[in-house]
This record gives sequence, structure tokens and C-alpha cells, in this order.
Amino acid sequence: MNAMTLDMAAIRADFPGLRTADGRAWHYLDSGATAQKPQAVIDACARAMGVDYATVHRGVYARSAEMTLAYEAARRTVAQFIGGAEHEIVFTRGATEAINLVAASWGGANLKAGDRILLSTLEHHSNIVPWQLLRDRVGVEIDVCPLTEDGQIDLVAAEQMLTPAHKLVALAHVSNVLGGVLHVEHIVALAKSVGAKVLIDGCQAVPRIAVDVAALGCDFYAFSAHKLYGPTGIGALWAKAEILDAMPPWQGGGSMIDRVTFERTTYAPAPTRFEAGTPAIVEAIGFAAAVDYVQAIGLAAIHAHEARLVAQLRGELARMADVRVFGPDNAAGIVSFALDGVHPHDLGTILDEADVAIRAGHHCAQPLMDHLGVPATTRASFGLYSDESDIAALIAGIERTKRIFG
Ligand SMILES: Cc1ncc(COP(=O)(O)O)c(C=O)c1O
Repeated sequence: MNAMTLDMAAIRADFPGLRTADGRAWHYLDSGATAQKPQAVIDACARAMGVDYATVHRGVYARSAEMTLAYEAARRTVAQFIGGAEHEIVFTRGATEAINLVAASWGGANLKAGDRILLSTLEHHSNIVPWQLLRDRVGVEIDVCPLTEDGQIDLVAAEQMLTPAHKLVALAHVSNVLGGVLHVEHIVALAKSVGAKVLIDGCQAVPRIAVDVAALGCDFYAFSAHKLYGPTGIGALWAKAEILDAMPPWQGGGSMIDRVTFERTTYAPAPTRFEAGTPAIVEAIGFAAAVDYVQAIGLAAIHAHEARLVAQLRGELARMADVRVFGPDNAAGIVSFALDGVHPHDLGTILDEADVAIRAGHHCAQPLMDHLGVPATTRASFGLYSDESDIAALIAGIERTKRIFG
């Protein structure tokens, strides 16, 4: 076994969620929605919630001091994972909150009526609606970059669309529906040429691609722990230190302050300034455990493994005359398709009877569904624990569905 080959038996044994409650193999093909958790993450969370449990940042007793060290060590781990510095990482509830934070704080302070933001047709609602809320607040304009024929963000069109009025380009690193991978360095170069900042929604990228924010050159990078084999309820916003330091707070409360009087309040430095209230302590520890788990396996090997699965599934689906496969051939970890004459929800229900879990719906990307001309797609998304048996079960389930629907 070389470094690019995963030890699948060992990996699958790490994930208790890959079996049904009565012990059958479960073909989980919905990791794009949320990933199953390895035992190491479950154990880290149980310990943090059990024998190690205490609050952070204010206790005078030893356990609280230790928990504070663990919480800040988690921030360091998450920062190192994407090539950032620890003071550039804000723990948020997830990618959605991270993007809302940038829109409310940076957007509110830096954008004005007439400024423009460039999004794309394939964005998740989390990278659309926060900017619409900002539009309602300050009057910015939103432009939508079209897609290429095979469903990738069209960078030639982006170059033509960008003007000095554009102050922000906000795009997904990996599409949660089509799996296409954005050439981030390219869009950063285009954005910088007109003086725009770049926010990358890295939700679907961090579980599948090694990310180095310094090399990418973006200004903001947002992601969630739960798609990265970590707990729900936590994610991260990375922002360049000079940008984060200058951003005003967006939520007020405990922890984020320096000094409070009824006349005036001063704030803690970043990133604490953006973490009002008791933070998600247990989740932060679990987040770091997930990062450790993924790094021990290696993202290059995970990416190669998922690429093989994508190629196999796309190949098998392409051989079916009644299946339309969306997205580019080199998609990362995600395959969306439509079966003629069968609604994705019906297909999903029949697959569920065979212990195959896929996602059917608009995937929080309704503008993309409109563009594809479908109300919904069926989406199979892989994790590092997925294997050929999952694809075989999916294909068998599709064949069975076709027989049922005649
Ligand atoms: C590309 C993308 N962006 C943003 C999100 C939102 O992530 P969360 O719901 O964890 O905040 C998702 C989740 O599906 C996603 O796939």
C-alpha cells in the first residue's frame, strides 16, 4: 500500500456511523451534507464534555485554565490546517455564520450604495442570502458570474464582468452540487486587478483538497467542521490579520469586550472580538480532533481516493442512456445526476430501502437548479470512507428504481 492508497478496512472501522443500528452496512453517500464522525472525534468530544469539562477564558481554577489551553490549541490546529495564523481564525457556528459575519461586519463597515459584489450561479444559499441582506441594508449591487458548459465558474466571463466598482468577489471553492473546483489563484488575480477582496466558501473543499490560504491569496476563507468529520455547531472564518483587526464587532455580549460601562464599551482584539458569549468549547476540541484525523491520513490520498470514486461513478452513470450527469469530469467528491421520468425524491426513497443514503433536492442552490432546468437533482457525495461497494449499491438501486418505474 503506497501513501496515496487508503487502508479502507481500517478507515471504515473508525466510523461507527457507517452501520445501521442493527449492524448492516450502510451506504452513506451524503457526506457533502454532513460527514460521519471517526471514533477519535467522538472520543475527544466525550472527554471534553466529561472529565475535562469546564468553561474557558475566565475560570480561576486549574481545569478551566486547561480547557482554555485546549480551546486555543484547537484554534491553532485549525489555523495550521489551512495555512493561516491562529489570531486569524474566528470560531463560528459554521460556514453560514462565517459568511454572515463578513457581510455584517466587514460589509457593513466597508461597502456603500453602488459598490458591487460578484457571486456565481452555483453558490450555496449561504453565499447568496447574506449579501442580499447587506444589499437591503446598504444598497450594494450583486452580479452573478455565469457557468461554463460543464458547470464551472466561468473565469473568462468573470474577467469581463469585474470593474473597479467591485469590492468583493465571493465564490465557492468546490461546488456542493457539481463538485467543480475553482481555480482560486486565478480569480484572486482578477479580483486584485480591480481592487476587490475575495471571500472563498471552502465548505466542500476542506474535506477533499489541501488548502493553503497564503498560497491562494484570498482575503476570507469560510468552512464548517461537520463536513470535515467534526462536530456540528462549529466552523471557522479565516481572514487576513489586517482585515480582521480593522473589522467592527457584529454580536455583543460576554467575552468579546475589553471594558464595559453604561456610557461606553471597548472591545477585545480579534479574534475574541467576534466570539461573543460562551463559545462552543466541546465542538472546538472535536473540530481539532477531526483536523488531526484528516491530516494523519493526508488530503492528497483522500483527494486521489475520491477522484477514483467520482470517475467510476460518472463512468457507470454515463453508460445509462436515461441518466443525465451534471458537472465537470474532474469534480471533487460529488456527483449530481437526474434519472429520466423519476423524481429525485422517489429515487432517494427507493435507495433508502436498500440502505443507500443519497441527497435529493435543490441542495440549497435554487438558482443553480433554475440554471440546470430541473427542480432538484440526486446527489451522491463521497467521504474518505466511501468505497466501490457504495457505488455498486447505488447502481443496483438505480436499476431497481428503473424496473419499478417501468
Ligand atoms: C458550498 C457550501 N457552502 C455553505 C454551506 C453551509 O454550511 P453550514 O450549513 O455548515 O453553515 C454548505 C453546506 O451545505 C455548502 O455545501
